[in-house]
Amino acid sequence: MKNSLTQKMVPAIADQTIRINRETAAKIRQTLDGLIGNRSFQADACADIMADMGTAALGPFLNRAERQMLEDFGRGIGEHPFVILEGLPQQADLPPTPSMYGDDSAVQFTDSLLLATMRLARLQPVAYSYENDGRLFRNVSPVRQLRANSSWGYRDPLEWHIDNAYAFENAGFMGDTPTEPHESPAPQTLFFAGLRNQDGRGRAVPTEILKASDVVRNASQKLVQILQQPLFSVKPGASNLRPPMNRPMPLLERSSTTGEWLLRFNANPLLTVGFTKRAQLAVAELCRLLDDLEELMIPVMVCPGMIFAIDNYRVLHRRKQFSPGTDWSNARWLRRCFGCSSRGHGQQLDAVNRPFVWK
Ligand SMILES: [Fe+2]
Repeated sequence: MKNSLTQKMVPAIADQTIRINRETAAKIRQTLDGLIGNRSFQADACADIMADMGTAALGPFLNRAERQMLEDFGRGIGEHPFVILEGLPQQADLPPTPSMYGDDSAVQFTDSLLLATMRLARLQPVAYSYENDGRLFRNVSPVRQLRANSSWGYRDPLEWHIDNAYAFENAGFMGDTPTEPHESPAPQTLFFAGLRNQDGRGRAVPTEILKASDVVRNASQKLVQILQQPLFSVKPGASNLRPPMNRPMPLLERSSTTGEWLLRFNANPLLTVGFTKRAQLAVAELCRLLDDLEELMIPVMVCPGMIFAIDNYRVLHRRKQFSPGTDWSNARWLRRCFGCSSRGHGQQLDAVNRPFVWK
């Protein structure tokens, strides 16, 4: 298949892929179908139960190295800050691709496998009160008449960015009990599950990533140095209702616990601001550098039966424009959920009744 060949050309993808064979997929399906039974689950209310069921079905089939790969990913360590699972059993009776929100219980099988993968990486799902209507799962699918560009867009490319890049704190490295008041941090990881992934001409639409470590390795020492200074702000993207923080912050940090490079950025020139002339020049230089690093870009086709998890601090991601064609019921459709290493890292909206949502 054309898409598989494209993916095989990138060695990092092969290294970071957990492949489920057909026989195993059939067993996973049987177990998970049996556990779900004729019940109906939605992640916003039942994420932990869904993760329990998905883990009971998927977990026994992962070997030690695969579990370790997931755990390293969850800890923010390792050379490649992403993981792919492919060959998973696919969602049966898939409804038409929804516009914005749909009936989440119709895709509970796929959501359970995604939440299980997150659990196996020792991460927990989180949503934000100011994004995606406070819901855990977002339908990444094209929305007609959408003016602003976001994961619901298709007409315009989504430039290199991390999600919710403007937040100052980072979720992975704050410890379980923050000592001072803070806003909820940027999401630590993003998990995508493929339900449909083709454009109007039947071609898969890639999700493209670029590692922060590759950016730093190819940047001048001077650029690396200025990006680490608190001279910048990243404004909220189109899907985000939180006001800008307007607090000067660095775009680049080295994690004090893992030593890995962490990057906050949005290449949309309206969203990343330099507060001084030097900082503005650095943003422009970083954008030029990203253009020059095209050959280090890793394209991943998130096809049905696949889960793609990325470290939101250690990779930038983007999507090119695409045409959904005429049959919108069959348009590209991914499920997306953020994962963090502890729910204690963010400020709870309502820990009792909405345990997954941060302010
Ligand atoms: Fe994004």
